Amino acid sequence: MSGDIAKAKREHHALAVEIRIHDDAYYKQDAPTVSDAKYDALRKRLLAIEAKFPELATKDSPSQHVGAKPSGRFGKITHSVPMLSLDNAFDEGDVKDFAARVRRFLNMAEDAPLAFTAEPKIDGLSASIRYEHGKLVKAATRGDGRIGEDITANIRTLKDVPETLTGSGWPDVLEVRGEVYIDHEDFAAMNAAQEHAGKEPYKNPRNAAAGSLRQIDPRITANRPLKFYAYAWGEMSAPIADTQMDAVLAFKRWGFNVNDLMRVFNNADDMIAHYKQIETDRSSLGYDIDGVVYKVNDLALQERLGFVSRAPRWAVAHKFPAEKATTIIEAIDVQVGRTGALTPVARLKPVTVGGVVVSNATLHNEDEIKRLDVRVGDSVEIQRAGDVIPQVLRVLDGDRARRPDPFTLPKSCPVCGANAVREVDEKGNRDVIRRCTNGLQCPAQAIESLKHFVSRRAYDIDGMGIKQIEAFYEKGLVLEPAHIFTLEARNGEIKLETWEGWGEQSAANLFAAINARRQIEFVRFLYGFGIRHVGHGNSTLVARHYLSFDIFLSAVQKMVQGDDDALAELLSIDGVGEACASALVGFFKSPQNMQVVNELLAQVTVIDAEAPSTDSPVAGKTVVFTGKLELMSRDEAKAKAQSLGAKVSGSVSGKTDYLVAGPGAGSKLKKAESLGVKVLSEAEWLEFIQ
Ligand code: IVH
Repeated sequence: MSGDIAKAKREHHALAVEIRIHDDAYYKQDAPTVSDAKYDALRKRLLAIEAKFPELATKDSPSQHVGAKPSGRFGKITHSVPMLSLDNAFDEGDVKDFAARVRRFLNMAEDAPLAFTAEPKIDGLSASIRYEHGKLVKAATRGDGRIGEDITANIRTLKDVPETLTGSGWPDVLEVRGEVYIDHEDFAAMNAAQEHAGKEPYKNPRNAAAGSLRQIDPRITANRPLKFYAYAWGEMSAPIADTQMDAVLAFKRWGFNVNDLMRVFNNADDMIAHYKQIETDRSSLGYDIDGVVYKVNDLALQERLGFVSRAPRWAVAHKFPAEKATTIIEAIDVQVGRTGALTPVARLKPVTVGGVVVSNATLHNEDEIKRLDVRVGDSVEIQRAGDVIPQVLRVLDGDRARRPDPFTLPKSCPVCGANAVREVDEKGNRDVIRRCTNGLQCPAQAIESLKHFVSRRAYDIDGMGIKQIEAFYEKGLVLEPAHIFTLEARNGEIKLETWEGWGEQSAANLFAAINARRQIEFVRFLYGFGIRHVGHGNSTLVARHYLSFDIFLSAVQKMVQGDDDALAELLSIDGVGEACASALVGFFKSPQNMQVVNELLAQVTVIDAEAPSTDSPVAGKTVVFTGKLELMSRDEAKAKAQSLGAKVSGSVSGKTDYLVAGPGAGSKLKKAESLGVKVLSEAEWLEFIQ
């Protein structure tokens, strides 16, 4: 018996240490080191030991911590209005292009008045806070933009966030959005306290804010110096203003902090001057910012501009230049990615850049290596911008004696040994990227594809992350997507519950999570294949257009046979370009790929995509625009039609429902008339869709 308790004590201690490390990584660094399933298994084992030996449940056991609820740590909240991100501008030219793009889209003359706001881009985490009848009811993180985590209890502890709105005039439903951050002074105090307690300091204010906001116990969050700036909104039951500036001023009246460096300007030059002023003052602002955000001030124009993919057309983030540092190249390795790309990676002597330790930098491709003439042992200048992979900018001691020979990329794949080539397109242009030609037969490509397959925006299977995919792949149990879905049926032999780190419960949870994905949305299904040029944005466009995967597949099969009309339809989708179309055709043309697709289809059912809007008179109809449009730009007309669920095509055929013809319409108008297609003027069209 005494031997039993001694053994239990040892195991309990080891588990407690491990759980604390994971908790620390998750809550403090905001960088989880294990899957939820593994974490759950550790906690479960700890609790089982404590049930048998209650004396081990001492005050410092992880089991005793308030709210130490393990997996699915926060509830999920679906944003009623998606939380968007911003496109970036890196120089003055990009800012001018942005202003010009907005004018073009709105069909505005170059000299027509158009106002923009400009305000600092705070480097924190965005949150959405919902008020109903002036009372705070819910708060969520951004998450993937569509679904965030429920952080209501934590947000309530922020002094900057009113529990009840002040003043008057707010709508019944109001979602206030903005940035949660920690200022420099508070950050320094927090780190001094960490060090005093013998703990690791936080890397930067953003990480400290992230860790503080994602505390399970709101009492801990309450003791963290989190602040909040309001700058945007989600759902609103009634409009609150006509301009961006007035909306933000309303937030101020209702009890929020807003940034007092926000200004309104009428042209790009003045916006850029404000940017420069903010950049000069950056270090004395007292909080981290990483750029300046410009937004079209008129909310009716914002509405017309809408958004593309995940960013609004009416805003842009003008980023500050990346931070730089000097270090030494210790080695150059070659990595093989999901699409076979051979990427040279510089291993660096670790160096701190903008508060973060960097030890790897991408060298992109062989042309870049040649351009930089970078070799092992060189002193280099590197830069890091936000969350982007650090880059090597230039070699500092290229003229020193006894440098090693130039680095050359291997002509064969370092993982599978197959030929690695730089493709040449029809126009004779040579791709800058060298790729392994072995497709999914190459273990590196296969495993990277599988990781992509289970990633958040694809199948997003709980408990099946990078580590699990690697383990299943190495054991030969999952070599292609369909194998994930046959794991449970094969578990008689696999016996997952006996593997290290797994138990009955975690294995059962994994199988349940896999089974939950046997019904899979069209977008996830298509994106999951990880086809080059077919990212989440394009997958969404394709799914929204064809609605059913079967219909899409038969269209692609026609394209494979050389059917030009089928290809023209794919290309008519706003946002789908040649590269995406030919990648799709190329992918579904390959018999090996079709085998992977069919094996997967034997395991899963693809859920049809929803038509964007079914109650509009043009939902599902095919429209062609021709001639000059006078009230809006062609882009705006197209985007508007698509947002109402119409398909916009470039050519008139028997499938066309409406032709919208402006002055100067020619052959398309004639063809439409001969086919009996309904022809509308621009004004008639606008009235029709109102
Ligand atoms: S506006 C649709 N304004 O930047 C517009 N965003 O890169 C939504 N951010 O997710 C954002 N300061 O977390 C806006 N003044 C500001 C901002 C800001 C920081 C963050 C925000 C957003 C990210 C996009």
